[in-house]
Amino acid sequence: MSIIFKDVTYTYNKGTPVEKTAIKGLSLSIGSGEFVAVTGRPGSGRSTFVQLLGGLIKPTSGSITVSPRNSSELMACRGVGVVLQFPERQFFEESVYDDLSFPLRRAGISEEEIETRLRDALNAVDIDFHTYCDRSPLELSSGEKRRVAIAAILVLDPEVIALDEPLAGLDGRGKREIVKELKRLQGEMGKTVIVATQDCEGLLRICDRVIFLENGTLTGDGGAETIKGIASRTSPIQSLRDALKAKGVDLGNGVFDAEEAFLRIKGVK
Ligand SMILES: Nc1ncnc2c1ncn2[C@@H]1O[C@H](COP(=O)(O)OP(=O)(O)OP(=O)(O)O)[C@@H](O)[C@H]1O
Ligand SMILES: [Mg+2]
Repeated sequence: MSIIFKDVTYTYNKGTPVEKTAIKGLSLSIGSGEFVAVTGRPGSGRSTFVQLLGGLIKPTSGSITVSPRNSSELMACRGVGVVLQFPERQFFEESVYDDLSFPLRRAGISEEEIETRLRDALNAVDIDFHTYCDRSPLELSSGEKRRVAIAAILVLDPEVIALDEPLAGLDGRGKREIVKELKRLQGEMGKTVIVATQDCEGLLRICDRVIFLENGTLTGDGGAETIKGIASRTSPIQSLRDALKAKGVDLGNGVFDAEEAFLRIKGVK
């Protein structure tokens, strides 16, 4: 399943004194199975991009096509699932089971199928079905909440999963867990994964491609070389890593913040 943006512009409050064009003439395509990070400075249009991807808002001009490549893919096409920023704030049922099964029950899916889907979705984000299904989603750790919220979209079995700031508000460990699960979604489950992120640390290392937005305009789109350039431009930890490397200290992988860098240098981790 591929996604094609053709000259897409999106303007909030069009025709009013407060109108704001958040995406400007964006043309790009994203192929099946890619892992794409969408990044840029605050207000650059990342969240608007994710909402356009998921069909939550429609382009003011231009077009977005989500197209299966052949008829068998057409049969299997299950669209784009969107995980909004802080998705755990939208939990509303008393148990993880009830929260995740709500849209499936509404769609008339059998209880047996619902349980299978919940097991698979929770398993995909490393949450044990038996231990967690009767627990209140509000009583989980921040990282667990975020993973359960991702599972809430996975139960719908979308081919493409787009997430807005999936690392926001998590500590180093929580971030590492999400990064690992997202990579698994792409690698083991064959999903196309698109993440809007300001927190490039971790995600940029595992994505195949980065899209860089500046004030709603596409100013960077590419693989390893573009990723390296953007990482050193946007991530303070990457700059720290480069500076230390020049002095002969290699921080290695898995360092997400200054505290972890400090511990690594001290040889604690
Ligand atoms: N609902 C809205 N109404 C009006 N303007 C909006 C709305 N949402 C976003 N904007 C404006 O559109 C531009 C892009 O916003 P967007 O939220 O897509 O950027 P972002 O890169 O996700 O930023 P952030 O760093 O806040 O996550 C910004 O200038 C923002 O002020
Ligand atoms: Mg945003």
